[in-house]
Amino acid sequence: MARIRRNAQLIVVSNRLPIRIIGTGAKRRFEPGDGGLATALGSLLEERPCNWIGWLGRPGPAPRKIRLNGMQVIPVPISSAEIDAFYHGFSNRTLWPLYHDVIRTPLFEHRWWPPYVDVNERFAAKAIAEARRGDILWIHDYQLQLVPQFARRLRPDLRIGFFLHIPFPPEELFAWLPWRSEVVEGLLGADVIGFQTHANAQNFSRAARKYTDAEGTDTELHYQGRTIQVGSFPISIDFRNFEELARSPKVLLRAKEIRQHAGVGRKLILCVDRLDYTKGIEQRLLAFEQLLERREASVDDCVLMQIAVPSRERVREYTETRTRVERIVGRINGEFSEPGIIAVHYFRRNVSREELVAFYVAADIMLVTPLRDGMNVVAKEFVACRTDHNGVLILSELAGAARELRQAIQINPHDVEDITAALVRALHMHKEESRQRMVVMRTIVRRHDVHHWADEFFQALKK
Ligand code: ADP
Ligand code: G6P
Repeated sequence: MARIRRNAQLIVVSNRLPIRIIGTGAKRRFEPGDGGLATALGSLLEERPCNWIGWLGRPGPAPRKIRLNGMQVIPVPISSAEIDAFYHGFSNRTLWPLYHDVIRTPLFEHRWWPPYVDVNERFAAKAIAEARRGDILWIHDYQLQLVPQFARRLRPDLRIGFFLHIPFPPEELFAWLPWRSEVVEGLLGADVIGFQTHANAQNFSRAARKYTDAEGTDTELHYQGRTIQVGSFPISIDFRNFEELARSPKVLLRAKEIRQHAGVGRKLILCVDRLDYTKGIEQRLLAFEQLLERREASVDDCVLMQIAVPSRERVREYTETRTRVERIVGRINGEFSEPGIIAVHYFRRNVSREELVAFYVAADIMLVTPLRDGMNVVAKEFVACRTDHNGVLILSELAGAARELRQAIQINPHDVEDITAALVRALHMHKEESRQRMVVMRTIVRRHDVHHWADEFFQALKK
C-alpha cells in the first residue's frame, strides 16, 4: 500500500474552487466561492500550500494556472453542455436530492451519466498530471465520486483520501440510484473515505458490501486486495478567524448599526443560507408567521432577517423554492409590518465575510432549520462569533452539526409547531441559561475547528 512521503505535496480536488472569477480581461477579479466546502477548505489551505484542482464556475476554456496566496489553482474546463448534464443534471437533480432524504424527487436521466463519468475522468487526469510519486490526493464531495477510482487505476503510488460534505443516504434510498454500484466502486478507489457523521459512514459501508465485492466492517473494508478506512470526520470552521473578526472595531460598529436598523427593543432573529430547498427556509418562515398570528410575539418584540445567497438558479427546484419563499415573505410583511416596522427583512445576495460576522454579532437568535444537512457550518460560525457569550441557537436535529451542538435548542424542522415553540422559548430564555449554553458550544467548536478536522483526516491517511 502507498505510504505518505515526508515531503509529499497535497493536491486538493473539488468541483467548486474556493474562488470564482468575476468579469474578463483587465476587469477580471476573484471572489470567494459559495457554500460550506469553499469556506472550510479556503481557510484551511491558506496555511497549507497545495495545488487545487477545480472548476471556476463558468463554461468553456479555463486559464492554465493561477497562483493565489501560496496555492496553485489549476482550473478544469467544463463545457456548457457538460454543465447542464454533469452539474445541473446529475450532481444537482439526481445526487443532491437523493442524498438529502429525497426532499425533492431525484431525476434519473440516463443521458446525464456519461458526462458525469467524463468530467470525473478529466478531474482525475488533471490531478494526476500535477502529482509526483507518493503525493496525496484529497478529493471532495458528491460531484466527484468517481475520481478516486480513476486516479487509483493510473497512479497506485498515490495516497488518496475522499471526503463527502453532504449526507450519504440510507440503504433504502441509495438503492434507487441506477448507477449505485459504479458510484460505490468509484469511491472505493480511495484509501480513506470520510463522512460527516457515523451514521453516514455506516450507510456507505453497508452499500459497499451490498453492491460490490467489498467485505469487512463499518470502519474497515477490504476490496481488490486493499484495505479502505471508512470514518466520520465532522467538518468545522476556522474558529479563531471568525472570533477575531467578531472582535474587530469595524465589525462591532457595523453590528451596532444593524441592531439600530432592526429597531430598538426588538429581538433580531437571523437566518443565513444558500437559497436551497434543503435548508427549510419555508418551514421557518411559516413558524415565524404562526408566532405573529397567534400573538405569541408581535413585530414590536422581534424581527426576522433572512440572508439568502442565490444558488443553482438554473435548476427548476431552486427557482420554485425562491418563488415560494418570496411569496411567504411578502404575505408576512403584508399582514404584519407597520410603517417603519418591517416584520421580515429579506436579502437575496452574497455578503462579505465582515458583513456576515456583523450580522452574527448583532443577532439575538440564530434560526437554522435544514430538513437535512451534511454539517451546516453557519451554526458553527454563529457560535464562534459570540465572543459576548450571548445569543440563542435554534438548530435542526437533522443537520450534522446537531451531533456536536447539543446545547442548542434542537427542533424537528419538518414540524412547524416545534419551530414556533422553539422561537417562543428562545425569545424568553433567561440570559444566564443562554450564556451557559453558549459557553459549552464555544468550547466544543473551538476545540474541534477546521484544523483539527484536517489533522484527523491526515492522521487516518497516514495509517
Ligand atoms: P452549504 O454548504 O450547504 O451551503 P453550510 O451552512 O455548511 O451550507 O455553509 C454555507 C456557507 O456559505 C457558510 O460558510 C456561510 O457563511 C456562507 N454563506 C451562506 N449564505 C451566505 C450569504 N448570503 N453571503 C455570504 N456567505 C454566505
Ligand atoms: C455545498 C456542497 C458543495 C458546493 C456548495 C455550493 O456546500 O457540499 O460541494 O460547492 O454547496 O454549491 P455550488 O453548486 O454552488 O457549488
